[in-house]
Amino acid sequence: MKAHVEKIFRHLDPKPDALLFANSVDPHLDQTFYYVFGVPSGLFEGSVAIAHPDGSIDVLSSPLEAESARQAAKEDRHVTVHVVNRGDETEDLVRKLVGSASSVGIHFHELTHELFVRFAKTLPQAQWVDVSNAVRRARVIKDAEEIARLRKAAEIGSAVGREIPSLLKAGISELELAAEMEYRMNHHGASGRSFSTIVAFGPHGAEPHYMPSDTRLKSGDSIVCDFGAIYRRYASDITRSYHFGKNDPEMQQVHDTVEKAQEAALAAIRPGIPSKEVHLAAERVIDRSPWKGRLIHGVGHSIGLVVHDGWAYHAKAEDPLEEGMVITVEPGIYLPGHGGVRIEDDVVVTKSGFEFLTTAPRSYIEVPA
Ligand code: GLY
Ligand code: MN
Repeated sequence: MKAHVEKIFRHLDPKPDALLFANSVDPHLDQTFYYVFGVPSGLFEGSVAIAHPDGSIDVLSSPLEAESARQAAKEDRHVTVHVVNRGDETEDLVRKLVGSASSVGIHFHELTHELFVRFAKTLPQAQWVDVSNAVRRARVIKDAEEIARLRKAAEIGSAVGREIPSLLKAGISELELAAEMEYRMNHHGASGRSFSTIVAFGPHGAEPHYMPSDTRLKSGDSIVCDFGAIYRRYASDITRSYHFGKNDPEMQQVHDTVEKAQEAALAAIRPGIPSKEVHLAAERVIDRSPWKGRLIHGVGHSIGLVVHDGWAYHAKAEDPLEEGMVITVEPGIYLPGHGGVRIEDDVVVTKSGFEFLTTAPRSYIEVPA
């Protein structure tokens, strides 16, 4: 994708003679490979993309994805695909394609050390340039096609968010609910989940990155479900919190406070403001409530080709928001031993504010036991 390659180069000064993005084995895949190539399907383990300052791209594909690669190249005249069978063929071709380039940009943030050592032997003259920051800055501002994919990924998450109350039955385990949610995401059009689905019952909800277990749902439990869909490689991220059975007045008030904190954070969003302002708006609401100090993480991050797309904001983040960013807004209150509430939405930053991509209801929902 010429436009994406040019965007990365625009953020580089001086400009390297070539950029080299390489995948190891899953999950050590640099999503920037797909960002510059634009191929919608295929894993591409061991594949390499060499991007040139004129926007053209050479892709070294394994035979396992050759069809997808050739099809994508047919649709993009700036891409040339070379199907390679073995590691030494890759090395010979990299040497040939990089040619006399003296400075070569690589993605320190994602390239494995093993691959770097191999490329350093293949291209002994190369001066290596870390392009991680340019990649991050290019990827964080989405174009219309990326926003369309993120919107669809968010719609899939929202559809499941609306269905969760109908799945809550006494005795269902966290793992069973997570499995049902993931099944439904695929059923709604996802090709997979964007991260390990979090389902947390009762006290488990107090841990933001909890992993589901065989714990079973019982009356009086609060429930935190944090999940996301992949649609044409783009990841959504949504959290909804519910309550099951016997009312818990504290958790209901906690929910209302988190909702207000999210509304305050959303109201702060506009291009140009330091992103910490969004975090601080949510934190102020929580810190004026009886649950002061119980927001224990930054209020959001960019989403894109991965769920944590290289950029996040918190109380000290000075980076400004920019039009075209797609970010999460996810305040939470966590009460150890009792439970938690988090509400997370995906929004695109627009000229005048923001637009929701996720749409499932956010308010307190109590499901009878
Ligand atoms: N959805 C998990 C997280 O943002 O950390
Ligand atoms: Mn998130």
